[in-house]
Amino acid sequence: MSINLIAAVDKNLGLGKEGKLLLSIPEDMKLFKALTENNVVIMGRKTFDSLPSRKPLKNRINIVLSNNKNFHPEGVCTFSDKEKALEYAKSLKEDIFIIGGGEIYRQFARDAEVAFITYIDRDFGADVHFPDIFKKHEWKLESEEGPFDFEGIDYFFRKYKKISEKHS
Ligand SMILES: NC(=O)c1ccc[n+]([C@@H]2O[C@H](COP(=O)([O-])OP(=O)(O)OC[C@H]3O[C@@H](n4cnc5c(N)ncnc54)[C@H](OP(=O)(O)O)[C@@H]3O)[C@@H](O)[C@H]2O)c1
Repeated sequence: MSINLIAAVDKNLGLGKEGKLLLSIPEDMKLFKALTENNVVIMGRKTFDSLPSRKPLKNRINIVLSNNKNFHPEGVCTFSDKEKALEYAKSLKEDIFIIGGGEIYRQFARDAEVAFITYIDRDFGADVHFPDIFKKHEWKLESEEGPFDFEGIDYFFRKYKKISEKHS
């Protein structure tokens, strides 16, 4: 069981604008599906609202955080407490993927040990950002693939690992 962050960011760590993704890259979507399928995904209510037809992601256990006690969409486990959500996710014994958005990445960054980041080499003027965690010495770039091209825009698949305190 591992706890992973997974996100696509622009060159300013931008994640989204007006409640939507900045760009949808088919190869990135494929990687997202391959990594998260048959595992557990945790997201914020706003990210859930942005999913196609507001339906849970198929073949994954969907956990959504909301402070609204009346928020109970079908096929989703809802929590209003971050630690309780994480405790439940861990009890499922599958890998856990934190899938956003900005508020959720900020809260779970300290719990995660791996981050799968698709880096898109463009500034999209986002209004929601990924936390600036990779400058911290505890996160190390483990691998990078790319550049790949999508409609004239370069992007990279990066994997970061958190160095455990006893080794740093
Ligand atoms: N590029 C990417 O990889 C990526 C991935 C995901 C999302 N996004 C984008 O990010 C944007 C959304 O991000 P966001 O930061 O605005 O919102 P978000 O993190 O998706 O959701 C925020 C909401 O989650 C709930 N929440 C957060 N922490 C909570 C806690 N500790 N306890 C209970 N509820 C909690 C609250 O819901 P209530 O208001 O219901 O209380 C809060 O308003 C969209 O533009 C989306 O497209 C991008």
